[in-house]
Amino acid sequence: MANRLSSWRRAFASAAAAAAAAASSGCGVQSPLDPHSEPARKIATLWWWMLAAAAVVFIGALFLLVLSWRRRDTEGLPLLGTSERASTGLVVTFGIVIPLIALSVLFAVANLSVARDTDAPERGSTKLTIEVTAHQRFWEVRYPGSAAVTANEIHIPARTRVNVVVRSADVVHSFWAPELNRKVDAVPGHPNRMLLYADEPGRYRGDCAELCGVDHSHMGLAVYADPPSEFRSWLARQARPAAEPNTSAERAGQRVFLDSQCAGCHTIRGTEARGGIGPDLTHLQERDTLAALTLPTTRAKLSAWVRDPQRFKPGNRMPVLGLSAAQHRAVVDYLESLR
Ligand code: CUA
Repeated sequence: MANRLSSWRRAFASAAAAAAAAASSGCGVQSPLDPHSEPARKIATLWWWMLAAAAVVFIGALFLLVLSWRRRDTEGLPLLGTSERASTGLVVTFGIVIPLIALSVLFAVANLSVARDTDAPERGSTKLTIEVTAHQRFWEVRYPGSAAVTANEIHIPARTRVNVVVRSADVVHSFWAPELNRKVDAVPGHPNRMLLYADEPGRYRGDCAELCGVDHSHMGLAVYADPPSEFRSWLARQARPAAEPNTSAERAGQRVFLDSQCAGCHTIRGTEARGGIGPDLTHLQERDTLAALTLPTTRAKLSAWVRDPQRFKPGNRMPVLGLSAAQHRAVVDYLESLR
């Protein structure tokens, strides 16, 4: 019986995840009903209990509705007859007592248990802190103690409690990787903290969960939980400055990049490009996606993105650069060399 129940739960959870995937742009699946950490499991369990309680109320209400329709020609209430005391009792029980008990239990469980279990880690209780800053519209990710800066794709070691400091550089955003924990608002001037933990290595899709402007729907993020040794080598690679361009095309592209608007908005560590408006591009090719998970990092998509960013993510802050065909090709060559 327990097995059958849990297979029903899994089937329901994967159906919900599939629906979420269909609704999103196909860049991955995310569902709070498919938890991969203890905090997310607590949230999912609370959700299932709430669904069960709501189902009992729903079925009970349907039952009473059908009963009263079938006995529509009989005087008084079904089962209770014409007694005034009985009908007052019915209203008091179902209208006041039961809702009061249900809401009190929900309040107690949600606030005393689930809220505590999903809360930010105690200060100094984790070995790793990362800083996530929300921008209109991408996520900047820094690793204090390391020069590494990346965007949108957040690497953490698996099975490790990570303290995440969430900030905003402009308006209110909300950081949410539903398979790992609850959402946390990114509020300008007020850093919030949260716990990130993943039971096993994997890629966990997340999103901005607060309407933050025109292209809010294109502000995806992904948490990559790596085996701890892989995470350490990833972090060491990310901390290095950008590779020097190798070919004459790449060198020409770097020149175009540094002389055009690109360098005013983006940083490429190890070069004069020090802009802070767009994502750090030092190791762009180490990321699977472009533009906050909007496009895969292929040459064709990168080229199309640089030509007309507004086509893929209307309202984003990257302008059309007006490069010649040769300049455009060279810049793409250079960006492709940033491993
Ligand atoms: Cu950032 Cu919505």
